[in-house]
Amino acid sequence: MILGLDIGRHTIKLVSVEKTKEGFKILDAASRLVPDANRAYDPEKIDKPMWIMAIKELMRLQGINPKRVKNIVTGIGGVHASVKQITTLDMPTEELHSSMTLEARKHIPMDGTDAVIDFEIFGPNAREVDKIDVGLVACTKGILNHHLDLLKECGFKPGIVDVEPIAMTNTFSHAKDMPEDGLVVLLDIGAVSSGLVVWGHQQQYFTRDIQIGGHDFVKAVMDKKDLSYIDAQDLLQKEGLSAILSQSTSDHENAIGLAERTVFDNLVEDIRRSLRFYAKTTGQSFFLKILLSGGVAETPGLVDYIQSKLNVDTAIINPLESLAGIEELEVSNPSQYAIALGLAIRGGLS
Ligand SMILES: Nc1ncnc2c1ncn2[C@@H]1O[C@H](COP(=O)(O)OP(=O)(O)OP(=O)(O)O)[C@@H](O)[C@H]1O
Ligand SMILES: [Mg+2]
Repeated sequence: MILGLDIGRHTIKLVSVEKTKEGFKILDAASRLVPDANRAYDPEKIDKPMWIMAIKELMRLQGINPKRVKNIVTGIGGVHASVKQITTLDMPTEELHSSMTLEARKHIPMDGTDAVIDFEIFGPNAREVDKIDVGLVACTKGILNHHLDLLKECGFKPGIVDVEPIAMTNTFSHAKDMPEDGLVVLLDIGAVSSGLVVWGHQQQYFTRDIQIGGHDFVKAVMDKKDLSYIDAQDLLQKEGLSAILSQSTSDHENAIGLAERTVFDNLVEDIRRSLRFYAKTTGQSFFLKILLSGGVAETPGLVDYIQSKLNVDTAIINPLESLAGIEELEVSNPSQYAIALGLAIRGGLS
């Protein structure tokens, strides 16, 4: 069994799989809230003991003894890690290691501890003969140790530690056949932030963490409708974007034509900015599709809103649907498991 464990700031998700000749068979998918379900959620108040309690409880409910788990893969979130494709001069591995360490320091928020890096040489650069393309993943020792301590305190023997954007990519490339041309935009909308990945065959890999998540949606509904956190959250899950967006353009409040900028516009604007940046730096802008995952993807009206504002075909990805064994499980909100599945897949690749 390979256990993919996605330690979110709101919900812990697990996906366990078994490697088969044909690919992967899913054994289980389950989740557990980290905060108290009946109280207003405050990401600042989520601390290590709460994560440990939620993880232990989830394991207990799913009949998994952490001490017996041999293959666990976890992920470090996009805020704390850097994933970059870099073009550099071809050089011996040792020099490349120091050069990449220096490079990494530019991209991760340093916290007084050293940078921990991992890199993979993709191959020669298509345009410049003496250069190579390198995939660089980095975080700090402080972040990594904190993560490993958490796992140990839950009773696990830590295994592979991946990063969330790579897990998203692994899930996608496992679930879908990617056309030869064009780019796919993956967007995992979590409670606190959203991970964006631009990916395509032979294309520059790009990822960015957008600091908007479901928590911001709920706060916006709270303010606009003068509701408690829990009521606002319920309304948002039931009615979706229409809970705060005016339905008709002839709405009197907006008669002067100045539509109020909403949290949804902010999200769309951040996606737009990222895609513009990508197009500017790579010269590529053939965005085929935006695929949403994460717990918030199911918010009613969100897919249509993003699609209409950005004019790119948008859909929610169900990462579990093509897996063997899925017919025996009942999983609600499957898009929430995109990262957990990607982590489990990673465990089967090495
Ligand atoms: N059916 C649903 N419709 C809309 N939102 C939902 C639904 N179910 C859960 N959510 C929201 O999804 C969020 C949790 O999603 P997810 O598990 O992806 O977040 P997380 O990984 O814990 O957060 P982060 O990635 O920011 O650390 C919460 O904000 C929750 O309110
Ligand atoms: Mg998450």
